[in-house]
Amino acid sequence: MTSNFLDLDKYIKRKTLIIEKNLYSYFENKNTILWQAMNYSIRAGGKRLRPVIALAVCEMLEGNEEVVIPSACAIEMIHTQSLIHDDLPSIDNDDLRRGKPTNHKVYGEAMAIIAGDGLITLAFYTICKYTKNTEYINILKVIEELSYAAGPDGMCGGQAIDIIAEKNKEFIVDENILNYIHSNKTGAIIKASGKIGAILSNASENEIELITSYCKNIGLAFQIIDDILDVKGETRILGKTARKDINKATFPNFYGIEKSIKIAKELVENAISNLDYFGNKAKYLIDLAYYILERNY
Ligand code: IPE
Ligand code: IPE
Ligand code: MG
Ligand code: MG
Ligand code: MG
Repeated sequence: MTSNFLDLDKYIKRKTLIIEKNLYSYFENKNTILWQAMNYSIRAGGKRLRPVIALAVCEMLEGNEEVVIPSACAIEMIHTQSLIHDDLPSIDNDDLRRGKPTNHKVYGEAMAIIAGDGLITLAFYTICKYTKNTEYINILKVIEELSYAAGPDGMCGGQAIDIIAEKNKEFIVDENILNYIHSNKTGAIIKASGKIGAILSNASENEIELITSYCKNIGLAFQIIDDILDVKGETRILGKTARKDINKATFPNFYGIEKSIKIAKELVENAISNLDYFGNKAKYLIDLAYYILERNY
């Protein structure tokens, strides 16, 4: 993180501590091989960007963080599941994740698949069991948002087309399909993170719409930068093998690096314009959007 982001860095660290303390508590006294496999990937680190977004939205709206924490942790569980499955030999076949051997390298392919299943189901259990001090309707809305975002019209849908586009050379990727892949495989959960933070902070319809639009823009920008870092970054810093996505339907492959950077910048500018309404309170969400652009891992 560059010096421009020192304040944001502190903010992210503060929010990450809260998230990790709670996230790890759901894994306490759980010792079966399956729990160990789930716990391994959960504790492997990661930027915790999605739960940080949920908590940052809550703070901007002066909501109650305690209400949002179980859902923020659930989002990180789903994200971690997506990484475990994404790394499997039949999908991206990766050996390194978050600077450590991938889940299937340690626990074997079968256990990695089940660990992913365990994380998805634990996510929804966590929301239902631990969300307090909000109306039940809000909990239902959160479950609706997260299940939709993770499902066949969200992350799974994007992952499916991503794989088809890579493996089937006759499949023609146009701009719409490119946008579909990246807005869904990555954008959907990022969008849900902000929206869930807003719902649980009792945001108005207008506020939810603005925050959703902000997240939609940064979500796509995030994946574009992921694919640029895949080309330009170093394995040691990324914590995952560089040049792994080189044959995929990515923005850099479709538009080239320069134009992809330009598109990501425009998305971030659009994202930030959605926050005008919130004035100074949006400071950290604005910084987060720039950080997504400038990050090196
Ligand atoms: C990696 O996400 C997978 C994508 C959706 C691009 P992150 O870059 O947020 O991964 P972690 O959580 O920091 O490991
Ligand atoms: C993965 O995209 C998106 C997910 C839903 C996990 P990538 O395949 O580009 O993610 P990395 O590069 O392996 O983190
Ligand atoms: Mg992938
Ligand atoms: Mg991958
Ligand atoms: Mg990638």
